[in-house]
Amino acid sequence: MLKVDENNHIFHLFNEKISLVIQILDNHFVVNRYFGRRIPFFAGSNTLDDVHHAFSVFQDDDRYSATNLSLEYSYENFGDYRITSSSIRDVNGYPIGNYEFLSYDTTPIFPKGMPHVRNNEDTTYLNLELTDKETKTNLILHYLLVNDAPILTKWVTMKNQGDRPVTIDKLDSLQVDISRDDYKLLSFSGAHAKEFQPQITQIENNIQEISSNRGVSSPQHQPFVALIDKDTSLDYGEYYASSFIWSGDFKAQVEKDQYNHLRMTMGVNADTLKWELSPKETFETPQAIICYGKNGLNGISKNFQTFFKKHLLENRLVKSPLIPLNTWEASYFGVNADLCKELMPKAAETGINLFVIDDGWFINRNSEKGQLGDWKIDKEKFPNGLEEISRLAHTNNMKFGLWIEPEMITTNSDLFKKHPDWVMNNPKRPHLLSRNQLILDLSNNKVQKYLIETISNLVKENHIDYIKWDFNRQFAPTISQTAGSTEQETVDFKYIKGLYHVLERIRKINPDLIIENCASGGGRVDPGMLYYTDQTWISDLTDSVSRFRIISNMLMLYPLSVFSSHLSKSPNEQDGRMLPLNTRLLLSGIGSFGVELNLNEFNATELKKLKRFIKEYKTNYNLVHNGIALNMFCLTKDETKPIAILLSKENKYSLIYSYGKTDSVNIPKYLPLRYLEENKNYLLNGSQEISGVELNDAGLTIEPIKGDYQVKKWDVAEIKQK
Ligand code: GLA
Repeated sequence: MLKVDENNHIFHLFNEKISLVIQILDNHFVVNRYFGRRIPFFAGSNTLDDVHHAFSVFQDDDRYSATNLSLEYSYENFGDYRITSSSIRDVNGYPIGNYEFLSYDTTPIFPKGMPHVRNNEDTTYLNLELTDKETKTNLILHYLLVNDAPILTKWVTMKNQGDRPVTIDKLDSLQVDISRDDYKLLSFSGAHAKEFQPQITQIENNIQEISSNRGVSSPQHQPFVALIDKDTSLDYGEYYASSFIWSGDFKAQVEKDQYNHLRMTMGVNADTLKWELSPKETFETPQAIICYGKNGLNGISKNFQTFFKKHLLENRLVKSPLIPLNTWEASYFGVNADLCKELMPKAAETGINLFVIDDGWFINRNSEKGQLGDWKIDKEKFPNGLEEISRLAHTNNMKFGLWIEPEMITTNSDLFKKHPDWVMNNPKRPHLLSRNQLILDLSNNKVQKYLIETISNLVKENHIDYIKWDFNRQFAPTISQTAGSTEQETVDFKYIKGLYHVLERIRKINPDLIIENCASGGGRVDPGMLYYTDQTWISDLTDSVSRFRIISNMLMLYPLSVFSSHLSKSPNEQDGRMLPLNTRLLLSGIGSFGVELNLNEFNATELKKLKRFIKEYKTNYNLVHNGIALNMFCLTKDETKPIAILLSKENKYSLIYSYGKTDSVNIPKYLPLRYLEENKNYLLNGSQEISGVELNDAGLTIEPIKGDYQVKKWDVAEIKQK
């Protein structure tokens, strides 16, 4: 909903939960008057600071100055000496800023060719248009408020209506200025096989940055930052949490200024972007999400999970579970038709309903050195082609899936020989190989076209139902051989838009194709990729205890339905941890369950256990896949500590408790369930009736155990009143 005070240029955007009040001052400062809990109307109790403080820059008729206002958007070189959300120059290289207010409208609009908030019926839009008369460039600040959550998205369009180019050195999607001085910064950092580790830092009078310049969004940093109250706990504490619907380079910054006010920005990483905007051209930034609340870490979690499900994901696996057997850890590059034929009936017998051939199925691919780019079937491994395996899967009532790494190429491929200028590479210098491979230049339309055709043909010819879309290196150097010298700093941005175009087209051409997102595990887990894909391989670390920890952190943002979670062998292939089958099954059942081991190595009892587990998983699918999952302990980096996740959907709950390291002091602990409905009674594990209040406050008994990393699960179901 939107209320506008035309006389004072005050815009009040609100839903049931939050209010954002913007005022245009002196016709050019777009000021944030209030952002927080919903207020019925805005009266201006928080008066503006109209004093010209030391060093402030102002024009004679200005009552205000940029140094001390809370701004919605800011310009470099115009007296706002904090981090600014934009830096724009005219044809002489002179900075442009202090755009004048022109008009507003409420047209529903979204950035073209980019992932964005879906479900537009239940939303309110506000577009504020500003102009620079000198260059005739217009800057439009877009706001989209979803009416069912304390969440807004912000983004920006820049239009050049003049007759000379302007240069965009920086154009962030979001800026949030708040008058709080005692907040902390929450973010997630990580590495390959150790994704999404929480980080909470003090905010001092300096600038902190969370960013990527690797061509991908993660895993070293995640495009997410939150300003949180210093005393934030699971359920209490104010927050301003932001995520970014973008899969490439990004930068989020937080500054505490000279007056101890906080500024947070989020946008495409300006270090790797410089865009010359020609006359009549438009540049649009991706959407950034901002969520406000006072209900602590689980509040952020609940809001983002709900928002993603309702407004971003396609949720195509809502009804029926797809349980894959993936060949990677079963046979690595040694996969072949005989093995597939042997594993398939066994898999079908246990209830697995998707057979995925991972890496190794195409010509000259017996190691990481092999041939990427041509995607021709290795006839020695698969003499009758993949079609035979696909048919077999379908006759066993299973779907058929295939691994592919579309954006990559090796120099021994036919594609490279034919189109050496299609790779990101400096032709005058030695190749910078990573995992022996180079990256195709997806900023080039011809490459996009090739990929759309090649993948769609592969899917069609082999009746493929599912692809695992992998990406196993990062950008270096970011060079498009077909672009001019002035365009090189647009390549990162155009690459991601090219990738989105390819994904969009492939989905259109193959409407039933399921896509799993993967980048050496969780190397590109972000809202942009989740928009186009159905689930994500979140980590190459298949140790179920460690992966459960990664999942528990990722729940801050993403719903459980997104995470692939496969049963793997013991000792684990990556870290050698030994875990009993029960533990591995219980933990892998949190997320989208699958199997990633050689079933030939399972004895009859183990196969029976797996079958029983899959049956149960299918029965509880709605709870695991479509519910909300919350942490019962605050975020920690300490790997020895327990983790507990409570799943909830309608009247059903499940608590899964991973003990961490064992303790020699053998006393029971009690875990309050916090989130059950207080006026209801529940059945615990199908036997004992307990009230919601008792379970919420007295809690479950966590019996002491002997031995590291054990796991237990409790089921709680509401007792219906007669
Ligand atoms: C990446 C993926 C793995 C597997 C291999 C295949 O590392 O994350 O799951 O598919 O590539 O090469």
